[in-house]
Amino acid sequence: MAGDRTVTDEVVDSLRGSADPRLRELLTGLVRHLHAFAREARLTQQEWERAIGFLTATGQACTDTRQEFILLSDVLGLSMLVETINNRQGPGATESTVLGPFHMTESPVRELGANIDLVGGGEPCVVSGRVLSRDGGPLPGAVVDVWQADGNGFYDVQQPGVQPAGNGRGLFTADDEGRFWFRTCVPSPYPIPTDGPVGGLLRATGRHPYRPAHVHFIASAEGHAPVTTHIFVAGSDYLDSDAVFAVKPRLVANFAPVDDPSAARDFGVANPFRHARFDLVLERA
Ligand code: BEZ
Ligand code: FE
Repeated sequence: MAGDRTVTDEVVDSLRGSADPRLRELLTGLVRHLHAFAREARLTQQEWERAIGFLTATGQACTDTRQEFILLSDVLGLSMLVETINNRQGPGATESTVLGPFHMTESPVRELGANIDLVGGGEPCVVSGRVLSRDGGPLPGAVVDVWQADGNGFYDVQQPGVQPAGNGRGLFTADDEGRFWFRTCVPSPYPIPTDGPVGGLLRATGRHPYRPAHVHFIASAEGHAPVTTHIFVAGSDYLDSDAVFAVKPRLVANFAPVDDPSAARDFGVANPFRHARFDLVLERA
């Protein structure tokens, strides 16, 4: 170490030969912040070793169907922060939120009005809306990809052999007026996976693992930027304490109770049922 230069300066200098200027910028910022954190917290050798052990276990918990690092990023709010920095929708456009780890299989193509609850037993529900351009006007032919947990709070991919593949999922095409609608059951709040290192982190910090009840959407249409979002069930538990910090007030939708046998017959659901109406508004690309 030369003169009064710190190890931080030396590491930053060592990055000067990076061929990719963005890589240099990212690593320089990361090193400066990591070093500042270690100085500020007066990180002990033991704490550093424990952190390395935690990160090692996080990597070892990853499989083809489980991404513990994404879960870590989610519970630390980093996924939501990156998502928000990169998706600044204009006024009126539907806000985005995290993709989450359960969009790992392709949703089956379904006709408008199909029931994505292949098992039944949950509280019957209709979800309907339109896909619109923020410029105004409907977007016929827009594609609406939907996935949700069942009434017990599990995704099909978490219960192979218990739930049929494709349960709670559907890929819909909006009609000539940009309308979409489907039948389902009212989703429940559910815990994110807690049997790995991230679960240990939540327990150590006295945090619960629950997400408020929600339905996931990816809406896309020609000439428009796709939006990845959720609608949250108004009144659900955990709206104020989502384990992954993904709630935005404008994404909370009223799943209105309906007691109307003739409407139920028209929709093909049992009476009474719940009806959520929610438009998906896309920015021009
Ligand atoms: C989800 O909503 O599916 C989800 C998002 C982040 C972490 C775990 C689950
Ligand atoms: Fe989810």
